[in-house]
Amino acid sequence: MLKLTVIQGDITKLKVDAVVNAANHTLLGGGGVDGAIHRAAGAELLKECRTLGGCQTGEAKLTSAYKLPCEYVIHTVGPVWYGGRNHEEENLRNCYLNSLKLAEEHACQTVAFPCISTGIYRFPKEQAAQIAVSCVKQSASALKFVKEIIFVCFSAEDKKIYDKLLNKDTVE
Ligand code: APR
Repeated sequence: MLKLTVIQGDITKLKVDAVVNAANHTLLGGGGVDGAIHRAAGAELLKECRTLGGCQTGEAKLTSAYKLPCEYVIHTVGPVWYGGRNHEEENLRNCYLNSLKLAEEHACQTVAFPCISTGIYRFPKEQAAQIAVSCVKQSASALKFVKEIIFVCFSAEDKKIYDKLLNKDTVE
């Protein structure tokens, strides 16, 4: 049974198997959660990222976590919001699906997601949360290793959005 949890906090502090990073195409760091993850993980993370050759929107790539308390970092590139007619929804769904695929391939039991694309990439928060939750729920029956997914909200506003969507914290 897949457990869905919502917390408000800093994803870099979580002792989970994998944290997901809202990266950009270069995978060479940036602002927001990407900046926080790179700062906390240290220079070794950037060194490994340099070997990955970037990442397409909707795709995901996995690295070690170095100084972070988690095991892995799954870097995914969310869509920039251009109004909704540029495959933003499909690309955001793929971020969650491809991140979960990598988590499964590495037998991760706990995976933490930030609110991908809803900061610098300006994806509307409610719509992004709906996509995230529906995508994860639809994947639940196919997940063999992942036992808990944690939606990590940096702001109280984001947490309220997820709390409303997840009126129960387990999925059959
Ligand atoms: N822990 C958890 N969530 C965080 C943290 C943190 N330490 N820092 C920021 N966030 C939240 C933001 O508040 C937002 O809700 O992560 C969410 C995603 O916002 P961004 O980090 O701006 O990511 P995104 O909108 O996907 O834009 C990606 O920003 O940082 C650059 O290199 C990155 O170019 C890429 C772009």
